[in-house]
Amino acid sequence: MKQVQLAAYGIPEQVVRCVEVPDPGPPGPGEVVFDILAFPINPADISFCSGNYRLRPPLPATPGAECIGRVTAIGAGVTHVKPGDHVINLARENWAQRRRVKADDVIAIPPQIPLRQAAMLRINPPTAQLLLSDVTTLQPGDWLIQNVANSAVGRLIIRLARARGLHTINVVRRESLFPELQAMGADICITDGPDLAARVAQATKAPIKLGIDAVCGEALARISSCVSDGGAVVTYGAMSGAQPTIDRSDLMFRGLTLSGFMLGRFLARRSLDEIRTIFADLGQQLLEGKLDAPVAAIYPIEQIAEAVAHAQRDAKGGKILVAPNGMI
Ligand SMILES: NC(=O)c1ccc[n+]([C@@H]2O[C@H](COP(=O)([O-])OP(=O)(O)OC[C@H]3O[C@@H](n4cnc5c(N)ncnc54)[C@H](OP(=O)(O)O)[C@@H]3O)[C@@H](O)[C@H]2O)c1
Repeated sequence: MKQVQLAAYGIPEQVVRCVEVPDPGPPGPGEVVFDILAFPINPADISFCSGNYRLRPPLPATPGAECIGRVTAIGAGVTHVKPGDHVINLARENWAQRRRVKADDVIAIPPQIPLRQAAMLRINPPTAQLLLSDVTTLQPGDWLIQNVANSAVGRLIIRLARARGLHTINVVRRESLFPELQAMGADICITDGPDLAARVAQATKAPIKLGIDAVCGEALARISSCVSDGGAVVTYGAMSGAQPTIDRSDLMFRGLTLSGFMLGRFLARRSLDEIRTIFADLGQQLLEGKLDAPVAAIYPIEQIAEAVAHAQRDAKGGKILVAPNGMI
């Protein structure tokens, strides 16, 4: 079967290669084997390939934090999934045609969820949901501000916030995105820039209780400067590649709190049953079309280098997916 391997850590499109490896074989007791139907290329996968991610396993390493698969076989004692089920995988190394994993790592999802959306269920939807629920207490009518608002997570935050009666201020890099984000429920859209706080203050007088950042560097400082005294700021990504920057007067005099979010850490606070409930709820919302993320292109696994290069372009207009077992 085919699998993506990193020959080295470095420039992602130069270090990924599609290689032939032995099939994972039949499932042992408590194991599941599934074919991978699609996986997205997320910013964290790009960091993984670069060697800048928190995980840096020995080489050759296989990237891939999420996927949608179809179960082909189950081992003795496995009762919660059966052959034919569509599953997401909580374990990594998913840039391959087939996986054999511990049964508890897979969660069955309704087969009616469009495969392209199901491929992106594991990471971004729960990230958006937990950023809204776990960082600070928000009530209907409260306001938050986020950057990378046109990213997959950003768009999910807009919709989930709207459904909860929260108001969003959405910071992006170009004005042409405003109509699309407003159509999905964004209250205010605004471009980033040095005078962000002044322009946000003109756009709304409402207190802003939460600032959500995925850029880091000075962009985090700009988001923080918009948050009202005593509010919360959370950073969950670093699209700029920079370390977090925040004005110390925002922390010391205005009493903001700054924290970091990582999905795995926040899911780990929950039981497996609670985690399954989160994915059942989010899966249902995908099924009903209440949530989705745009897809810009789908590549075969043999073209992994092209796919990885495409995933790093600015303004690409959606996720890049790979379909390792034929087009979806
Ligand atoms: N901590 C966690 O557990 C967790 C979980 C999921 C995601 N994340 C993070 O969430 C962020 C978004 O992920 P995603 O999958 O939603 O992303 P995505 O859909 O691939 O979109 C990437 C976004 O980043 C923007 N961007 C790229 N470089 C930028 C820069 N230098 N300055 C400002 N904006 C920039 C892009 O804007 P343009 O459209 O203008 O190019 C686009 O909106 C990433 O940082 C990712 O690592 C973290």
